[in-house]
Amino acid sequence: MYRTHTCGELKIENKGGSVQLAGWVQTVRKFGAITFIDLRDRYGITQLLFGEGLNAQLEANPLGREFVLQATGTVSERSNKNKNIPTGDIEIVVESFSILNKSAVPPFTIQDDTDGGDDLRMKYRYLDLRRNAVKKNLELRYAVNRSARNYLHEQGFYDIETPFLIKSTPEGARDFVVPSRMNPGEFYALPQSPQTFKQLLMVSGYDRYYQVVKCFRDEDLRADRQPEFTQIDCEMAFVQQEDILNMFEGLAKRIFKDVKGIDYTETVERTTWEEAMWNYGNDKPDIRFGMKIANLKFPLHVFPSKKEHLQTSPLGAGGGDGNATGFAVFDSAETVVAISVAGAGEYSRKQTDEITEWVKRPQIGMKGLAFIKCAADGTYKSSMDKFFDAEKLKAIADAAGAQTGDIVLILAGNEERTRKAISELRLEMAKRLGLRKNNEFKLLWVLDFPLFEYDEESNRWVARHHPFTSPKPQDIEVMINNDPTISNAAKYLEHPYAGIKANAYDIVLNGNEIGGGSIRIFQRELQEKMFAALGMSKEEALHKFGFLLGAFEYGAPPHGGIAFGFDRFCAILGGSESIRDFIAFPKNNSGRDVMLDAPSTIDEKQLEELQIKTAVK
Ligand code: AMO
Repeated sequence: MYRTHTCGELKIENKGGSVQLAGWVQTVRKFGAITFIDLRDRYGITQLLFGEGLNAQLEANPLGREFVLQATGTVSERSNKNKNIPTGDIEIVVESFSILNKSAVPPFTIQDDTDGGDDLRMKYRYLDLRRNAVKKNLELRYAVNRSARNYLHEQGFYDIETPFLIKSTPEGARDFVVPSRMNPGEFYALPQSPQTFKQLLMVSGYDRYYQVVKCFRDEDLRADRQPEFTQIDCEMAFVQQEDILNMFEGLAKRIFKDVKGIDYTETVERTTWEEAMWNYGNDKPDIRFGMKIANLKFPLHVFPSKKEHLQTSPLGAGGGDGNATGFAVFDSAETVVAISVAGAGEYSRKQTDEITEWVKRPQIGMKGLAFIKCAADGTYKSSMDKFFDAEKLKAIADAAGAQTGDIVLILAGNEERTRKAISELRLEMAKRLGLRKNNEFKLLWVLDFPLFEYDEESNRWVARHHPFTSPKPQDIEVMINNDPTISNAAKYLEHPYAGIKANAYDIVLNGNEIGGGSIRIFQRELQEKMFAALGMSKEEALHKFGFLLGAFEYGAPPHGGIAFGFDRFCAILGGSESIRDFIAFPKNNSGRDVMLDAPSTIDEKQLEELQIKTAVK
């Protein structure tokens, strides 16, 4: 037996007890003849006191940081109590000890505020994982995992594993491929998700499936993206959108309760994709705060339902079309949008200059920023004083919903970039004002996405979600009765396919897409039409998805599902921007595992067996 207790459990009630502990040496402090050692394990830290009698032994066997130590002694009350740790009332008066293993001096200190930079910590991730901060993240991850499994089990879901060595499943990224030795010249693809398998399981009658499963996507990495990440992947048969939303809203709420102790009792808000773009400029809005966008000018073909709004714009009838305002920046812009920032009406020149520089950064890409300060004395100070009189400035400020003491920030330019920029600016201003609180959680369903997206490069439609997503029932006819060919690229938005809505939904938490799914196509004809719409020939569709088309001929039930981004959900619950903090062994932003030094070259012999030649020397 190595230990009777862990380093996190001994309290004053254990006083007088004889115990044995094992763990890692956190610190060694020598005070004259006495040595104090903080011993650490997964459960906590306990102070060990080595009296004078052990000095000779300590000198013969000097202890260093991260040594693995076993100590036997008596629990005693500390004279100098440490209220910051659960074991702070006691210490162990050591009677004997043994060094179970030595340690080299660690390359960084193993404590909450470590001196190790990112790369160093990743290289020695096994040491980084000893730190309390990282351990807490993995604990949270496990709690989310347990909570999800319990909920899904109670709801009658089966956890069914699906293979990793498969044929490509398109989810919009590149595949990672694995060469097959037994089938020279042929490759498996690693699944971007178990999408087609879970659909096949529905055909097989397993009407509630889930899996906490690795997915692999070769795509550009960001703070919230890893090349291998985990999904809580789910599918149900005999369901409509409403059934799915209710079931998985339930899952998210259960996780809040189990992991954070939060009773998320209110109904999760819902918005359509179009309203999300209109009000917030993106399809995953953070709705913990308002600051909705004021649309002063916008292209009607993007928001066809907003025609009336355009008539009432303060930039003039038609939203400033042509030379309506006399301000060239607005008159030449496709889109003019604004947000009103509460309580920032007294911003100094320096502050407005700073925000202007912020929107000019390449990541945001705007040429400039216009603003109107709504001063406490009822006047309007603006960067556009030369072009607009006080009445006009007031009209614009009113349209942006500004109150006295607010500043209206206005961006103008091409629709896509400007809308994206105002959405980023909205988040940035909210961050500066402290409106994005880590401990406040707000879910949102985003519904009615467009089914297709236009791909400029190939001048064709691509699936916005994936090719197995069904159109809204009322759009099925539109899809079947129209030719998908885009004859005039400039007018693609006028093609009937541009207006087709998907039976798809995303779940958004605090401005992050934590899950997405759809009601699926389950008839062969419609699935074939979909493949054709995406530019696939009949032969290609059969070659890639013959198995699925075949399965749809044998009584496929109506079905649908969703996948949660498990790492993302954990990161947000843990108040972090980066999912890496919640993955035991993550990759860096170039997709490298710096600890393993992977990817790496392989032996000539291995290449030969696989009958592969590489062009890179
Ligand atoms: P989707 O592609 O939307 O849907 O993925 C589901 C969720 O997975 C998370 N996610 C990622 N997390 C970390 N790193 C990545 N590279 C990454 N990519 C995606 C996101 C996302 O919302 N098969 C469908 C689901 C379905 O239709 O049921 C799918 O994979 O949080």
